[in-house]
Amino acid sequence: MSLGLPLVSCSIDDAYSDEEYRDRIQKAKEELGDRVMILGHHYQRDSIVEHADATGDSFRLSRMAADSTAEHIVFCGVHFMAESADILTNDQQIVSMPTTRAGCSMADMANLPDVEECWHTLLDELDLSDPISRENPEELATENDNFLVPVTYMNSSAALKAFVGKHGGIVCTSTNAQGVLEWALGRAGGLGKVLFFPDQHLGRNTASKMGFELDDMAVWNPQTIPNIDEINRAKFVLWHGYCSVHQRFTVDQIDRLRDAFPNALVVVHPECDQKVVHAADADGSTDFIRRFCEEAPPGSIIGVGTEINLVQRLNSQYPDKEIHCLDDSVCPCSTMYMIHPRFLAEQLESIINGDRRNIITIDKQTSKDAIKALNRMLEV
Ligand code: 13P
Ligand code: SF4
Repeated sequence: MSLGLPLVSCSIDDAYSDEEYRDRIQKAKEELGDRVMILGHHYQRDSIVEHADATGDSFRLSRMAADSTAEHIVFCGVHFMAESADILTNDQQIVSMPTTRAGCSMADMANLPDVEECWHTLLDELDLSDPISRENPEELATENDNFLVPVTYMNSSAALKAFVGKHGGIVCTSTNAQGVLEWALGRAGGLGKVLFFPDQHLGRNTASKMGFELDDMAVWNPQTIPNIDEINRAKFVLWHGYCSVHQRFTVDQIDRLRDAFPNALVVVHPECDQKVVHAADADGSTDFIRRFCEEAPPGSIIGVGTEINLVQRLNSQYPDKEIHCLDDSVCPCSTMYMIHPRFLAEQLESIINGDRRNIITIDKQTSKDAIKALNRMLEV
């Protein structure tokens, strides 16, 4: 087991040094003052995080966006996060990203046509009702009700959040997944089901924490013919999506760490496989992981199953602990990493110059439907 943390480095071919980007960003921020708020997800590189007015997991950042009064929100994270920020801010506020190319491969694993096909197949083939038929989707269902309640992970497009909002469903993040699934079960009724997309692992790990068995969960893979009998027996239908970063973590890595350091603590993100989550001491959102490391006693050795930029930052923030990534090879989220200081400098300068670029705009109808699902989440 290597104790040295792998270094993540990335340069883009241009004429400026890191120092020059830092100066440009600071100068632009000073000029913009309260007009701009920079939000940075925990997976961003240090040279972005140092300029963020607030950092956090996707739940905290969506709350920050909802509460902000800044004219411009520059989102340093991935596309679905900026979309949610646009939905949660008012019409006068402008949400942009340093580059709109930073997407999330997991979010892309579920698209609206595929989800609609799944939805109609489940309603047609199983004895289930659309929550749209209810007068009040917020009300608890009865033992005899049979609603199919859609739940989408925050890591999904605005179109899917709108679908969920329209059909009486809800959004969740890794911070509140259990509360949200309890909410959804309460609205599904005794004969109903929950359709969860796109991350099968978060769905499985959360349902399992709530006491459900694997037989209570069926997987919907849009590429294969569905096994309707298996789905009929299940309470949760989990979309076949996954995160390519978190699926790299294995129980073997945890065993090797504990062989080398029997007292080592292990914390992982719930996007990891269920076996990995079971083998860890704790699991939770990126903010939970940050707090776990902060609160661990001095001298702790902590193995972390999440993105490398966050792990490296935690290791340097807590020099009295040894915090390293469970995976020996570098494990970055390549799309989060697309946010380079050069693009942040250019984005801030373009705001000063009045150029409208990299703006994230969700149309009115999509926003109106999606906000129902986001507000249900914020109230849970
Ligand atoms: P958090 O909500 O825990 O920050 O997770 C977002 C994410 O994309 C993890 O891969
Ligand atoms: Fe998406 Fe995975 Fe990157 Fe998170 S770590 S943004 S789920 S690809």
